[in-house]
Amino acid sequence: MRMTTGSTDRRIDKLIHLLVKNATVVVPGPKIASEIGVTRQQVWEWIEKLRSLGVEIRGVPMEGYQLATIPDILVPSLLRAELGDHPIGRNIVHLFRADSTNAIALKLAAEGAEHGTVVVAEEQTAGRGRLGRAWYSEKSSGIYTSIILRPPLSPAAAPVLTLMAGLAAQKAVISATALAVDIRWPNDLLVNGKKVCGILTEMSAEVDRLHAVVLGIGINVNHSLMPAQLENIATSLRMEAHRGISRVQVLVALLREIERDYQLLLKDGNRAITERWEGASTFAHGKRVRVVNSASEAVATTTGLDPSGALKIRYDDGRQESLVAGEVLEVK
Ligand code: BTN
Repeated sequence: MRMTTGSTDRRIDKLIHLLVKNATVVVPGPKIASEIGVTRQQVWEWIEKLRSLGVEIRGVPMEGYQLATIPDILVPSLLRAELGDHPIGRNIVHLFRADSTNAIALKLAAEGAEHGTVVVAEEQTAGRGRLGRAWYSEKSSGIYTSIILRPPLSPAAAPVLTLMAGLAAQKAVISATALAVDIRWPNDLLVNGKKVCGILTEMSAEVDRLHAVVLGIGINVNHSLMPAQLENIATSLRMEAHRGISRVQVLVALLREIERDYQLLLKDGNRAITERWEGASTFAHGKRVRVVNSASEAVATTTGLDPSGALKIRYDDGRQESLVAGEVLEVK
């Protein structure tokens, strides 16, 4: 399939792969140039580009290049080496800079991209959040990824797919950091009460059939501080764990978990997800929340998920409701 996304030149991926494979030795510039089929000048330019993204590459005069550390860059060769042959992640589209990986994934899906295609960017210039918000997407610090699914399900399944992504992200973050991670309905990940991950699900569908679902996942991984307007509500894994976290490790774990949970959902149905979600989130039962929607705000207590993934709540005046969209915030 022809890509129209400005995705990373595959030869840069090859360059990284070559350096990783030969990490213990200095690789001569001419050898790199001939193996990937570009000029030495081009090799030098790409090495500089990788350095600007934090990849530590030693240049040894008259000899060549050597990696100083294993790079934490989300290129296909590094991810695929860890993923095995499963549909999710079989096709990975990497970009140094994207407007929004969700926008690109939706476009690729419309052009016929296969189930499991993963779009990942080192930086977003117009990252999209839920409820019309923007997603702060600092270069090389976070994971900004969108996964295309083609589920044989109706549009009514979309909320459960979103919950599934939240569960997968929670497991991935715990496996890489051992932090205590909560899920705020529908799928914000919180560490010490602050957001580290958000998920925006977008789709194209007919009345009775989903064409494609795009799970857009943003994780704050190695930000060393958050911008002033976000610092009270958002944090990063590095800020909470007090150490750098491998983005490659988190993303690989995330894709593996999504693969596993997606198979479970198809096999066992919604309950495979909703029951696990109820056990994984302190927001599921008995949480005092402010229910925020465009018109009003009210306080309620949560009473679990219904089978479609909607959050059941009881207002203080006794009224009950199932929320299918919107936002709840914990009452402190
Ligand atoms: C939220 O508001 O909580 C959802 C944030 C989702 C952000 C991710 S980053 C990758 C993907 N591309 C986007 O433009 N948005 C999602």
